[in-house]
Amino acid sequence: MSDTLSAKITLDKDFVISAVDPRLFGGFIEHIGRAVYTGIYEPGHPAADPDGLRADVYELVRELDMPVTRYPGGNFVSGYNWEDGVGPRAQRPRRLDLAWRAVETNQFGTNEFIRWCRKANTAPLLAVNLGTRGADAAAALVEYCNHPGGSAWSDLRRAHGHAAPHGVKLWCLGNEMDGPWQMGHRSAGLYGQAAASAAHMMKRVDPTIELVVCGSSHRKMRTFGAWELEVLEHTYDLVDYLSLHTYYGDHEHDLPGFLAKPDTMSDFIDETAALCDAVAARRHATRRMMLSFDEWNVWYHSNAQDERVTPWAVAPPLVEDVYTAADALVVGGMLITLLNHADRVKVACIAQTVNVIGPIMTRPGGPAWRQTIFYPFQQASRFGRGVVLRQLVESPTYDAKERAGVPYLKSACVWQPADQTLTVFALNRSLDQSLALAVDLRAFPTLALKEWVTLRYADLDACNTADQPNTVTPQTRTGATVTREGLSAVLGPASWNVIRLERPT
Ligand code: AHR
Repeated sequence: MSDTLSAKITLDKDFVISAVDPRLFGGFIEHIGRAVYTGIYEPGHPAADPDGLRADVYELVRELDMPVTRYPGGNFVSGYNWEDGVGPRAQRPRRLDLAWRAVETNQFGTNEFIRWCRKANTAPLLAVNLGTRGADAAAALVEYCNHPGGSAWSDLRRAHGHAAPHGVKLWCLGNEMDGPWQMGHRSAGLYGQAAASAAHMMKRVDPTIELVVCGSSHRKMRTFGAWELEVLEHTYDLVDYLSLHTYYGDHEHDLPGFLAKPDTMSDFIDETAALCDAVAARRHATRRMMLSFDEWNVWYHSNAQDERVTPWAVAPPLVEDVYTAADALVVGGMLITLLNHADRVKVACIAQTVNVIGPIMTRPGGPAWRQTIFYPFQQASRFGRGVVLRQLVESPTYDAKERAGVPYLKSACVWQPADQTLTVFALNRSLDQSLALAVDLRAFPTLALKEWVTLRYADLDACNTADQPNTVTPQTRTGATVTREGLSAVLGPASWNVIRLERPT
């Protein structure tokens, strides 16, 4: 076996997948565990601002540059009365949150979230409760948020101190309604009808909003496929996006298989797009349904620990995965998958943002820090905006347990016409061999190397913690060359790479 593998990418500026919708780099804050309380909101914390919002946390969220953030769930939303979370705090009820078997104090609600969004430089993506509630409560929330005034719900918002409408553009019609774990779970037909009624009424209140209807909670759902076809039969003309969710883990300690999972995510997107197109064909529709991948991430480290959580606590530590260097590679691979599907996926939300399977962790009363997965997300968000190029990739492959022919190289290339930069995101999935990458730059003859940043840590189980927050961080590398023919770089084993080329001034 040779020590170094070789792979090649050929690009052409005219061969384009799509412009990237910046909302591909969205986040998610749910009322679960410590995402809200002691995550983004902690009055009395030394870094809390006068609104009780942790400035140390929203500064880190700004580093991630998330154009949208989904809220308030997740499973939580399917039992949530949004009215409980607005108005004078002293009068807000404490409720049992049946989704996570915790006590919800409602000290943080819609208006506090909108205020946080402004500070975190993100836009709200609100989900409505289609589990235990329906079209009426959903339309009332749109009226509360978006109607200027002169009606009961909009005047209530004004009375709560928000004279200007919040202008929430993007809305989810429930959450994971295909899942038996969901409050108010129902069949595709019943959900499709409920979503259609809600969509109709919500768009009557504000015709400028965009709506996401629930697709499958993951690809292995027994109803995957049939669910999409039926839900879209009811809602195709009323909604703008269909959702899909996925989480991956390395339960079997099979790293090659874990690193191959982003390719399964790719299949899931292709299959979901095909289902949408099948419905379009049956309806003779010319409009193509776009996708919202509004929950995706690695999630498995905390599973066992969560079994032991005592119910009915306020903001218990739940779903607090501590991410490893290996997880950062998988998250990088998932980001590459999203970029390469920028023609269909217009919204995506890493789930979640803080403490709960999040790139950012906090200690109550203590510091906030960046998990390993923070870095690939930040780099993709910063440099992955532009036009994704169609690549011709030649790469050696390996066979994982559940998938044969996995290319060692996983890559996405983004051209930014405005500043004439080309960014190559490249994952070397070999655990023990370097990979000599050649990128044929015939369409970009005048580009020069700007920087090569890599995330590679020999101990793939290494993590960042409160006490050692900088164990796994990106490093600048040298040794890449750019000639008229192309770019050459030898990617280390098990490494995530961001190679940026620019037009010299
Ligand atoms: O993100 C955690 C949970 O995962 C969400 O509440 C739910 O939608 C999904 O199952």
